[in-house]
Amino acid sequence: MTGTRTGIQLARPIIGAEERSEVDRVLASGMLAQGAEVASFEAEFSEHVCGRPCVAVNSGTSALLLALMAMGIGRGDEVIIPGFTFAGTANAVVLAGATPVFADIDPTHFCIDPRAVEAAISPRTAAVIPVHLYGHPADMEQLMAIAERHGLAVLEDAAQAHLAAWRSRPVGTFGATAAFSFYPTKNMTTGEGGLVVCADSETARRVKMLRNQGMAGRYEHEVIGYNARMTDIGAAIGRVQLRRLPGWTSTRRANASRLSTEFAAARIDPVVVLPQVADGADPVWHQYTVRVRGRDEVAAELAEAGVGSAVHYPHALNQLALYRSVCQRVPVLPVAERASREVLSLPVHPSLSDADLSAVVSAVCRAVRR
Ligand SMILES: Cc1ncc(COP(=O)(O)O)c(C=O)c1O
Repeated sequence: MTGTRTGIQLARPIIGAEERSEVDRVLASGMLAQGAEVASFEAEFSEHVCGRPCVAVNSGTSALLLALMAMGIGRGDEVIIPGFTFAGTANAVVLAGATPVFADIDPTHFCIDPRAVEAAISPRTAAVIPVHLYGHPADMEQLMAIAERHGLAVLEDAAQAHLAAWRSRPVGTFGATAAFSFYPTKNMTTGEGGLVVCADSETARRVKMLRNQGMAGRYEHEVIGYNARMTDIGAAIGRVQLRRLPGWTSTRRANASRLSTEFAAARIDPVVVLPQVADGADPVWHQYTVRVRGRDEVAAELAEAGVGSAVHYPHALNQLALYRSVCQRVPVLPVAERASREVLSLPVHPSLSDADLSAVVSAVCRAVRR
């Protein structure tokens, strides 16, 4: 994150008195590891994903990895993922023993391009991971149709998209599995944490074993598993955050709308291209990400003015040398590569005041007019 002087931060977890008192209650109980709080958190999260079984884990990366393993994806399999995402998406595929195949993105919404998915399918393709990047849902209608036609499993990477929806259906309810993250900068947090949403109870049972040393019951080890458990401390924070999430999401939407209105009035296009919402998408604005010419100079000026910003992400994954050694095919991805040169995320989080939002707009306008 670019540093700030006067402190309009790019992201800021909101931890209030209720989270503190719930953590105190759990600490006083002496039951700190995975227990009743985790089970309650899973049940409450399930209400937001059409009642699907949920399994909480210790990070979004673990959620992706365990979901892949529970779906039986591993050595010899190819998994299509967008070339423009957080590296955790690709790392989970490699850690599962499978091979990531990078597909290009849609230039308007930055999510995986369904046509690029179709073009990347080979006889070894076992799954596709659409990423709901910046909180904007991928086109799940087209992607599910392609997956069905080719017999591919779908794992939604919803790490940034809690409560987002595609044609009024919540993200996380399309694929066989979905992974959420509760890292502190996400729309809600458990400190560190993640969660797998499963379409069926058998997959949920496998994820539960994989998170807990492969145990089906106490010391009944059925498979090789991890310790990927969430603590009751984290789950207690998450339960409070989940209750506050709908309100925060409304505020994010209002903030995004205000930023877009003020930027449009300032007429700084085409130097700055504002984020667009796809027909059918109900985004949750994890990030408010613009494209801007001279991006790095603008970011430096924003930092000078005390406005936080960040580049999500400065490299398309196909440009990172480390994946060349694990991928058989590393394609050129013109749209992803261009995005990595142009994108800049601006503050949109729910703690911003109206004055903060106006200050962000003024600082951006000043920076681009220089
Ligand atoms: C798109 C995406 N996938 C996966 C992850 C991994 O989540 P975590 O950091 O909780 O492991 C993140 C988190 O940054 C993410 O943004």
